[in-house]
Amino acid sequence: MTEKNKLSFEGLAGGAPYDVVCRLAGFGPRFYRRAAWSIPLRPGMRILDVACGTAGFSLAAAGRIGSDGSVDGVDLSKTQLDYARVKSEKSATRFTFHRCSADAMPFEDKTFDAAISSLAFHEMPAEVRRGTILEIARVLKPGGFFALVDWTRPRCSPGGLFWLPLLRTFEYSADNWNNAYPALCEAAGLELLTDVYLRGAVRCQVFERVGGERDGLQGHACRAACDTGGNAGPFPDGPDGEASRTGRL
Ligand SMILES: C[S@@+](CC[C@H](N)C(=O)[O-])C[C@H]1O[C@@H](n2cnc3c(N)ncnc32)[C@H](O)[C@@H]1O
Repeated sequence: MTEKNKLSFEGLAGGAPYDVVCRLAGFGPRFYRRAAWSIPLRPGMRILDVACGTAGFSLAAAGRIGSDGSVDGVDLSKTQLDYARVKSEKSATRFTFHRCSADAMPFEDKTFDAAISSLAFHEMPAEVRRGTILEIARVLKPGGFFALVDWTRPRCSPGGLFWLPLLRTFEYSADNWNNAYPALCEAAGLELLTDVYLRGAVRCQVFERVGGERDGLQGHACRAACDTGGNAGPFPDGPDGEASRTGRL
């Protein structure tokens, strides 16, 4: 552990062994495809995967942004990044990886159309997490969006109850447990647009970088996602043909 993270994800804790454990826990390609179809991605977008690990989320996102889009992934772990490079070699989308902390990223202001992050914020100390949110707001274009997928307070379901003791004992997870992200993001200029449970204790929240043209392409896509009511997800025709539950705001 460094002052920037909880676990190192180096050696056997990262790369291919990490992916095996994730798959066994139900976080394989199907989960990431579902996440990627819950957010307003469009062909040609330039996206940032924050704490990308082995790039599970951004590889799924690549299927939606296509060969005209590109992905920059950042992570602290060399093992994770090395394996992410191997996995992304055959993708039609251009991938570039950077080893750095998410609270100090080497990008110009207003570079990205979208930022995504999965299962990583609970791994960061609180001050690093707050710095990361500020960095995401800085590097997003106005009107761009940030999609945060991570553990959250479980809703009433058997799958959610499974995580209950785990979440309550992790001081790192307090922001997740207390759903602090809408307030933290709003203070950084990121406004909550959609809030969806992907499963019993995993949430996907989409925030828009304020200051954009509200009728622009991305703002329109985000609002279209919000306007889908009832039990239909933002993108109900996703790859698995399953509608996700949308928290309408
Ligand atoms: C549980 S893994 C999730 C990885 C990936 N996003 C996924 O969905 O599989 C958490 C990742 O966060 C990375 N991480 C933790 N703290 C970080 C920080 N301050 N900056 C960048 N990456 C960090 C770790 O190295 C690890 O790869």
